[in-house]
Amino acid sequence: MFQINQLGTPKIASPLQLSTVKGDNIFNFIKDEDKLIYDLSLENYQQCIADGIAPVWLEKAGPRQFLHFDPKQTKAAIVTCGGLCPGLNNVIRGIVMALHYFYDIKDILGIRYGYEGLNPEAGHEFLKLTPDVVKDIHHHGGTILGSSRGGQSVSTMVDTLVANNINILFTIGGDGTLKGANAIGEEVAKRGANISVVGIPKTIDNDIDIIDKSFGFETSFDIASPIIRDAHNEAAGALNGIAIIKVMGRDSGFIAASATLAMPEVNYVLVPEMDFNLYGETGFLELLKKRLLDKKHAVIVVAEGAGQHLIQKAAEVKDASGNIQHEDIGVFLKDKIKAYFADSLPVTIKYIDPSYIVRSAPANSSDSIFCSSLAYQAVHGAMAGKTQFVVGKVNNKFVYLPIAAVTTKRKKIDLESEFWFAVLQSTGQPFSF
Ligand code: F6P
Repeated sequence: MFQINQLGTPKIASPLQLSTVKGDNIFNFIKDEDKLIYDLSLENYQQCIADGIAPVWLEKAGPRQFLHFDPKQTKAAIVTCGGLCPGLNNVIRGIVMALHYFYDIKDILGIRYGYEGLNPEAGHEFLKLTPDVVKDIHHHGGTILGSSRGGQSVSTMVDTLVANNINILFTIGGDGTLKGANAIGEEVAKRGANISVVGIPKTIDNDIDIIDKSFGFETSFDIASPIIRDAHNEAAGALNGIAIIKVMGRDSGFIAASATLAMPEVNYVLVPEMDFNLYGETGFLELLKKRLLDKKHAVIVVAEGAGQHLIQKAAEVKDASGNIQHEDIGVFLKDKIKAYFADSLPVTIKYIDPSYIVRSAPANSSDSIFCSSLAYQAVHGAMAGKTQFVVGKVNNKFVYLPIAAVTTKRKKIDLESEFWFAVLQSTGQPFSF
């Protein structure tokens, strides 16, 4: 189920001075047989024993003893696609440093402005990447390569890779980017070309399936948290003060929910995964009224994709990545709250939208560590000739997964999960309204 595609049989001895035996205090090469179990529950274990089958396994990430690519003749390229995300530059830096210092690969190109940079018609020159070019970039948010949304002709992109003798393409992006990477991998396979295509999942929404979390997500809610803290002061500073903080999260509310967990002064969190009513005895507005009468203020965190079912839309508009562009739920809520209390309760509403600020900053320390590890693991897998794979953490261990396995569906908050229960315990809001 999680089998990774492989280019040929790795035969070239790795230049890494690692061990193959335990007990010598030197890290051991990872073997392809070093599998990890996906579902760690006892129930799954017992079921597998009863059925006489092996459990679903994951391929452990890490340096292999034998490589597919000869470092002396290998050329790599890196592309960043989609919206910004904290840590992009850390990942670029990590890949360049690992290729250069671990494997002695000197030919590394940066593709400019996303997949557009693989279409010669766009006219973007490649950027030569060296340790000197990337050594300080992790101090800055954004991506030194530039990014863009939208795909390009797969055939044109593969033509560009082949024409430039590129053997490894590192793609850093979300769902659309990874699907594009898989399509490139399929075209490469069809042509019998010797190119490995690697994905490093990137989305501040944390909506890539199966993996524990994507890089940059933690920084995002880290940035949102003090904004919520200060918004609470605004709310508490006025009689019947209401602070509404809208954060990113198109179809998954992980940023809103995690920032809420980090800031327990939040009273309500609204995410795209939940249906909720505004009106009626058990509706959101009546609940808000009860709180105002009791506590005299309220803090509401809302993910941008929440409550779209409540808003009348003229037409569905999609962005260049094919994502539906949502109406502004923050402004909508503000207007509805204002209208609801107009004749009954004097309220002061402060609407705060940190917008792109949560994703354009540099990575925090935890993401910084994570980004370097992801980059190194991606390089090790690529050098061994693995292709059409992503690197990520599952059950807190670095693994390689087929791209197709993580792009089948988007990850969403499971409303029956411990995570969401923890959020509800923190806010005190009911399961539904
Ligand atoms: O990358 C995901 C995301 O940050 C969403 O939360 C948001 O809806 C979207 O990107 C906005 O990106 P842009 O305005 O750059 O298309």
